[in-house]
Parts: sequence; structure tokens; C-alpha cells
Amino acid sequence: MVEARELVRAAFEARDKAYVPYSNHGVGAALLTADGQIITGCNIENAAYTPTNCAERTAFFKAVSEGVKDFEAIAIVGGPMSRKATNICPPCGVCRQVMREFCGQDFKIYLGARDENENIDYEEYTLADLLPQGFGPDNL
Ligand code: THU
Repeated sequence: MVEARELVRAAFEARDKAYVPYSNHGVGAALLTADGQIITGCNIENAAYTPTNCAERTAFFKAVSEGVKDFEAIAIVGGPMSRKATNICPPCGVCRQVMREFCGQDFKIYLGARDENENIDYEEYTLADLLPQGFGPDNL
């Protein structure tokens, strides 16, 4: 059983790989699959700006493209690369919508940060908390 804290730690590791020359805002995500795998992602920016991919979607698209579509939880961390990510980084609306495509209402979302002693801390939400009344496959 993968614990939330371990997932947040994996998200911090993924954040080290963020490609963010334009915003300097590095985000890392760690997606926990139903069979206990951790699939990570970072944000990847682009000189044309709009092709930028968020960390969460990088993780989801890596997983789905490898045939994995059942998920339990995601941990997300982010903030300016010059700092230790001491504030939480909530997922953008587009990433919440991608979660809605593949995950149930009780999918767990851990928003991680480091406290003043650099220890890992996190807040726990569900997809229903962060995307109430979202539009999903069952609404078509
Ligand atoms: N970003 C993410 O990776 N995930 C989010 O949910 C919010 C925003 C990235 C996109 C861009 O590279 C940078 O953070 C600033 O918006």
C-alpha cells in the first residue's frame, strides 16, 4: 500500500525534472495506479507557450498511453524553482477535467508542500471536492 507521503515525495522528485524556462514554476505529479504503480510527470513548457503540458496531464498521458486507465490517487507539488514549494499548487481546470475522464468521484488528490522544517506536508481532497458537478463520459 503506497502512502500519501510517499506519493508526495515522488511528486517532489518528478518536479526536479520540470522543463520551465518561461515561468520558472516547476510542478511535479505522482499518479498512483490501481495496481500500485507510481507514474510521475512534470510540466513541460514550450517557446510557443500554448503547447505547454501540465505535470498532472503528463502523468495521466504517460499512463494511458501505456494502457493503464485505473487510478487511485495523485500527489501534486509546485512552485517557483528557486524555492522549496512551501505552498500547495492546486491542479488547473484542464487537469481536473482530464481526471474526470478517468477517475471516480472519490479519486484522492494530495496537494503537497514542505513546511518550515522542510518536512513533507499535504492536504487531502477528492475529485468531487475539486470538480463538483463536472462534465464526464456519463453526461454524453
Ligand atoms: N502547471 C502545471 O503543471 N499544473 C497545473 O495544474 C497548473 C500549472 C504549470 C503550467 C506552466 O508550466 C506553469 O505551471 C505555470 O502555469
